[in-house]
Amino acid sequence: MSNRVEPIRSVKGTRDLLPRETALWQRVEDEARRVFAAYNFREIRTPILEQTTLFARSVGADTDIVTKEMYTFQDRDDESLTLRPEATASVVRAYIEHNLYNERGIHKLYYIGPMFRRERPQKGRYRQFYQIGAEVLGSDHPTIDAEFLEMLALFLGRVGLTEYNLLLNSVGCPKCRAEYLKVLRQALDKVKDGMCGDCQRRAVTNPLRVLDCKVEADQPIIEKLPHILDHLCPECRQHFDCVAGELQQRGIPYEIAPRLVRGLDYYTRTTFEMTSSVLGAQNAFLGGGRYDGLSEMLGGPPTPGFGVAIGEDRLLLAVEQAGKLKADDALDVFIAWMGDAARDSATQLARAIRQQGLRVESNYEPARLKKSLGLANKLGARFAIIIGEGELGTGRWQVKDMAAGQQEEVEAGRVLAYLREKLQKG
Ligand code: HAM
Repeated sequence: MSNRVEPIRSVKGTRDLLPRETALWQRVEDEARRVFAAYNFREIRTPILEQTTLFARSVGADTDIVTKEMYTFQDRDDESLTLRPEATASVVRAYIEHNLYNERGIHKLYYIGPMFRRERPQKGRYRQFYQIGAEVLGSDHPTIDAEFLEMLALFLGRVGLTEYNLLLNSVGCPKCRAEYLKVLRQALDKVKDGMCGDCQRRAVTNPLRVLDCKVEADQPIIEKLPHILDHLCPECRQHFDCVAGELQQRGIPYEIAPRLVRGLDYYTRTTFEMTSSVLGAQNAFLGGGRYDGLSEMLGGPPTPGFGVAIGEDRLLLAVEQAGKLKADDALDVFIAWMGDAARDSATQLARAIRQQGLRVESNYEPARLKKSLGLANKLGARFAIIIGEGELGTGRWQVKDMAAGQQEEVEAGRVLAYLREKLQKG
């Protein structure tokens, strides 16, 4: 009888990102940080756990996220807590909690981290997924929206993505939306009996949500419903036209998508998504928009806001597919030393090269040259430095360019400069 224990597996819908993947994730995150910094965004880190009411009040009590997808539990003191399904609500909560509105000017904040939604897992859809998000608080100027989308285009270019669609819509303000909802309700009254159960209920409770129903059979009916863009008040219409005009001026192509109301209730005016045809069913790799009423919904002062969340898992699928961004985790140098006498020199050299920020590996035990070079090759080292008895005698190390197969003798004291020069050129 075997007493082997069953290995424990990761939770359904969650996954491990292994080093062969994380190198590219880090590159993407580095590019995001750089681009965000250029537009004067600064990082905010909020907790993963929040009070459940935060999301019920902001994302909306009748959304799929809140009704079906949140990981919610009673804490030991009976408080209801939720693993954040998104972070915009958390950022606005933090903005209010720390009175950031007392600091004058516009706040530009970004975050990178895991989110949790209990959706049906499939390619590009996970229960723990990652978002790179950014939010601007404190201005409702249409230039904010356009400049933000310009920033996203710059970022996507930096990670090698050029093939995508920007979908744009406006969901109006509470004033014109109320008028539109009347028209939408009337239209739904005539057709809702032929729709899915969720739509039938939402036609009454929250008709806007009907527009982002994903049930295939409902799509032809939804296509024929009235468009919110035809019912915007003059101020919202002007805002939308300004955003669209500024996008044109900046040379950013977009498509108007009248059904794009997004799956969260806090949006006002501009909504947008970007999709990529390489992603299959889950083709939206980012989404966002304006949320001018969210701060007040959460008990804060009136503060207009605009933001995005990039679905990092989906973005990475598209980045890999595009194949333009390369992870830079290759080994720079392998130090192959032979014989105990060479150990000290190898140890000192490894330390000195590492202090230069280069990636170095070495054999930990004395090893034959052939074996060490084989390992250097397997690890993808650019250079191997060979230190054996002969080299110790001359004070010159052999430096082998692994790809070219060429070997040069370099004076021990010059090795750092030699590597710097070669690796810069490469
Ligand atoms: P969202 O559209 O719910 O918006 O999510 C943004 C992106 O996160 C989606 O476009 C998608 O790429 C990714 N995503 C969502 N759910 C999953 C999942 N289960 N698996 C993998 N990726 C997923 C928001 O979260 C808003 N907070 C965006 C925002 C920021 N609006 C204003 N500011």
